[in-house]
Amino acid sequence: MNAPETLSRWQQAGSSRVPFWVYTDAQLYQRELSQIFYGKHWSYVGLDIEISNTGDFKLSFIGERQVIMVRDRVAPRDRATDTGIRVVENRCAHRGVRFCQQPQGNARSFVCPYHQWTYKLNGDLAGLPFKDGVKEGDCVNGGMPEGFDLKDHGLIKLRVAVLHGLVFATFSDETEPLEEYLGKDVMPWVNRIFKDKATGAGRQLTLLGYNRQRIPGNWKLMMENIKDPYHPGLLHTWFVTFGLWRADQKSRMVMDGEGRHAVMISRRNEGGANEAVTAGVTSFKANMALNDDRLLDVVPEPWWTIDDPANAGASITPTVTMITLFPSLIIQQQVNSLSTRHIVPRGEGEFDFVWTHFGFADDTPEMTRRRLRQANLFGPAGFVSADDGEVIEFSQDGFRQWGEGGSTLCELGGTGTEMTEHMVTETLIRSMYGYWKKVMGV
Ligand code: FES
Ligand code: FE2
Repeated sequence: MNAPETLSRWQQAGSSRVPFWVYTDAQLYQRELSQIFYGKHWSYVGLDIEISNTGDFKLSFIGERQVIMVRDRVAPRDRATDTGIRVVENRCAHRGVRFCQQPQGNARSFVCPYHQWTYKLNGDLAGLPFKDGVKEGDCVNGGMPEGFDLKDHGLIKLRVAVLHGLVFATFSDETEPLEEYLGKDVMPWVNRIFKDKATGAGRQLTLLGYNRQRIPGNWKLMMENIKDPYHPGLLHTWFVTFGLWRADQKSRMVMDGEGRHAVMISRRNEGGANEAVTAGVTSFKANMALNDDRLLDVVPEPWWTIDDPANAGASITPTVTMITLFPSLIIQQQVNSLSTRHIVPRGEGEFDFVWTHFGFADDTPEMTRRRLRQANLFGPAGFVSADDGEVIEFSQDGFRQWGEGGSTLCELGGTGTEMTEHMVTETLIRSMYGYWKKVMGV
């Protein structure tokens, strides 16, 4: 991706027409990996509850690089300031082997199978066989050169930031502090879910389970999907019919100062027919009813209400917030169901999508069961989310069948990138591509 003509290919002003090659160009994708995933951005790695004990580790990805999130030993005097959570690249410093093959486990150290180089939990090289050669009589055969220092040959260690139990990492020394990176407009919505109002610390989370799926589309399409408030009331029968997300609801579109992160905020209504939003909408099924209505047995929770960040003195009680943290994390609250969704790109035309469903340690057993039942709306075969995976595949198919000149038309609500108090807009998608163009130098 070095040819200047490639970089100047984005012809139109602004970001409301996204060229199809943005999704299909393999060289451009390599540049995204270096500029975005391995550049000055914080990427989600996992939840700290996935590695509760010293030595616990879990494999994750940042872009296409596999990393290990691990809980290191921490001296008692350092516990107040050091979470012990480290993120290191899963790539041996000797000859590049992806040495850790176990997706999750507990270890005292990491040993590469090839030549048994051994690493401490923090990624330091602890030792290697035959470093000083092999003695034969009075002489020594082989070994590493004079001056070889273990300290210079550890694993790649990433910078780590833990926010209320969410673990992020970055390859860059220049990425700003995490809360600054997320921005003052987005932070209240992350805090709403994860921060304990009383103590100011993170709420204790519980892990409810995982889904994972492989979606044959460009990774950015998943970000777009969760920045697109237009589609849920049209594509998703479940949302429009049962009033979980549709255009006659109070809603708000929020973004950070850079336009890269966003929050779609809304409040459900009772669903049913309303000429303004259901007439002619084929996905609306007036006669559809649930066989088991426990699937939508919604119980409001106290933490849903927060001081309205945009209106001093007022409070706000959304039932749904969909947070996109660029480049690879989605945090979902849809009524009582909560999950993180992690985007792992695999080339320009495919990504893995990993769902981690969670709750809170103080949930009653009934609430835990409710969260699990409502999780049936999401994941690869979810009553709602199956539609998104499929339509992303269709999008990629459409882009692929067209050559250089095609582009999407993303002008609902104009061509600007401002925050709005309604959902009939594609502003959040435009703002992401405004930022993407800047970072990619397109
Ligand atoms: Fe890992 Fe040689 S490649 S020890
Ligand atoms: Fe959707």
